Amino acid sequence: MHPAPRVHAWMTMLVLAVICVCMAPLHAEDGYELWLRYHLLATQQAAIYRSHATQLIESASTPTQTVTRAELLRGLGGLLGQAPPSSDAVTSNGAIIVGTPGSSPVIAGLHLDTKSLGHEGYIIRTVEVNGHAATAIVAHDDIGALYGTFHFLRLLQTEQSIDHLDVTQIPHVKLRVLNHWDNLNGQVERGYAGASIWDWWKLPDWRAPRYTDYARANASIGINGTVLNNVNAGAQILTPTYLQKVAALADVFRPYGIRVYLSVRFSAPIEIGHLKTADPLDPQVQRWWRDKADEIYKLIPDFGGFLVKANSEGQPGPQDYHRTHADGANMLADALAPHGGVVMWRAFVYSANGEDRAKQAYDEFKPLDGHFRDNVLIQVKNGPIDFQPREPFSPLFGAMPKTPLMMEFEITKEYLGFATHLVYLGPLFQEVLSSDTMVHGKGSTVAKVIDGSLDHHTLTGMAGVANIGTDRNWSGSDFNQANWYVFGRLAWDPTLSSRTIAEQWVRMTFTNNPAFVKPVVDMMMGSREAAVDYMTPLGLHHIMGPNHHYGPAPWDASEARADWRPVYYNRADHQGIGFDRTRTGSDAVDQYAPAVADEFNDITKTPETLLLWFHHVPWDYRMHSGQTLWYELVAHYTQGVDDVKRMRETWSHMNGYIDPERYQQVATFLAIQQKEAQWWRDACIAYFQSQSGLPLPPGFAPPQHSLKYYQSLTFDFVPGYSSW
Ligand code: GCU
Repeated sequence: MHPAPRVHAWMTMLVLAVICVCMAPLHAEDGYELWLRYHLLATQQAAIYRSHATQLIESASTPTQTVTRAELLRGLGGLLGQAPPSSDAVTSNGAIIVGTPGSSPVIAGLHLDTKSLGHEGYIIRTVEVNGHAATAIVAHDDIGALYGTFHFLRLLQTEQSIDHLDVTQIPHVKLRVLNHWDNLNGQVERGYAGASIWDWWKLPDWRAPRYTDYARANASIGINGTVLNNVNAGAQILTPTYLQKVAALADVFRPYGIRVYLSVRFSAPIEIGHLKTADPLDPQVQRWWRDKADEIYKLIPDFGGFLVKANSEGQPGPQDYHRTHADGANMLADALAPHGGVVMWRAFVYSANGEDRAKQAYDEFKPLDGHFRDNVLIQVKNGPIDFQPREPFSPLFGAMPKTPLMMEFEITKEYLGFATHLVYLGPLFQEVLSSDTMVHGKGSTVAKVIDGSLDHHTLTGMAGVANIGTDRNWSGSDFNQANWYVFGRLAWDPTLSSRTIAEQWVRMTFTNNPAFVKPVVDMMMGSREAAVDYMTPLGLHHIMGPNHHYGPAPWDASEARADWRPVYYNRADHQGIGFDRTRTGSDAVDQYAPAVADEFNDITKTPETLLLWFHHVPWDYRMHSGQTLWYELVAHYTQGVDDVKRMRETWSHMNGYIDPERYQQVATFLAIQQKEAQWWRDACIAYFQSQSGLPLPPGFAPPQHSLKYYQSLTFDFVPGYSSW
């Protein structure tokens, strides 16, 4: 039943009053609003849109529809300066109709094919109702209508025409999940944006408003899952006290279509269950996990499932009992299956067994293809080592056709300059997703492995290690928000262009002024290559300071394990530099499909961007440019620094287009980036020169300090590291 019209009017006034209060700037521009700023549009634009927002047609009052309406009113109220009144019938041009055919007779009357949209898809269409033009945002289920609403608001935020809309969107990937590496003590592993946003101490009673804003932001980009705690997990999260807290967060997120998941410690049955073993084939252990799953689902009926890091970097796992990863994953999968939960089992494994680290995940997991339960996904990092500025795609993609493989990207910039460096990760994500595995011939892209189309999987997923913390701007810097944003958008549709996404983000986050948008998007698009150049050009990798990962240390050999030492990866000596992974080296190349393997095996065919990943190359090797490798290495390092100088220059012309608060912080962070890019360049050139023994090519400035100086630098406290 719909409320009487007089109640509508009263409610609308109340909503408007609330919106007005919300719009009053309580804070200076501090980035808190993310891309959902909803600030008043230019007068003319707002006037056009107002004629498309004359009425909001009422629908049901389910929790999701309620937050959908609230978002629409908030968005329209902010962008247009007024929110449309609610009513139950279309009586003029410009009505907005939002919902599902099942809950609204007006929508049912439109006879749109919503069944083919699935659970999360939506249609945005200009329709005619009672002879009046209206905008319909329609889905089969409530959550689709919320996603459609955010899409519609984005059109307004980015000043697109909404005269003749005909949009149909269905997500390509089923599980679009953030992985928080948050510890229960509030510290975030590899987090550079303050402490954990989960205030475990005050939960479950205090549900901070920030949790709702977190859910709004995620829903606006289609993220539908969140793993709340670190993959290096303690068992405590599975205790009744913590599960109550987890349930409170799940309650906040539910209307926004976000399910919670937990990272679980494989040995939890011992630590909190007081069993003698965690052997996955032990009936008591299996029982313990079944009971634990039952307990969780009683509190959280839509709980997503478990994420597991097992037998990796010291974490316990099935191999402790001479069982396989499949034995471990399947035991957990069986416990979750009756409730519809999934296991996301990570393939990030390597040990000091003397084998090339880049080969180990494949070696362990490929033979297990076909051995996992239906509700298990194997979560694979984008490259074979560890989120380096550039890696080739992991050879596991395409190599396990019988198993759903889930992508794991790192949104937090552990290896890309922490919070301050401006590095837009869209091009990195896109480069990986568009890589061709060639397993079924040309066009067998990683994106097709991830969206399930290559091997016909319906259980599909993409995970991003979150860069979110208690910083007011959520992500440690304004531009880091773009990395959260682009992750969500690509998880929804891995074929989208990272430039288009960057442009939309810039318009929503800063301004639609083309004099700002174009240069800033250009700057973002070039920023990842700049970082590769000043950190790890030409396929170099893993040459950062050990443990804390801050700054360069290509010389470092201090770690006990060879595969944790930068020298293991760059192998620079008097003859040359690079890791020989060809058939005469570690033969990592043969983990790829033959066509790709042949390319990587042949130094003349390997893309120069990955040269030193696959080859140990003499310093005087002639590159495509005709110059020597030594020359090109120095040139790339120098180019990286020059690019950052240009980014600063670009930004200096942006003064005045946006608020001074965010302008200034970006400017200061770019200055830090330039300083640190110079440090990377100089330290790496100093070290590699000590190995090559070659003079610096003419025209290139020598390092500002001696190699000894760079080697003497120490870092007592680096954020994100203390849990290790
Ligand atoms: C990297 C990172 C660790 C993290 C690990 C993982 O090695 O430095 O902090 O725990 O990845 O992904 O599990």
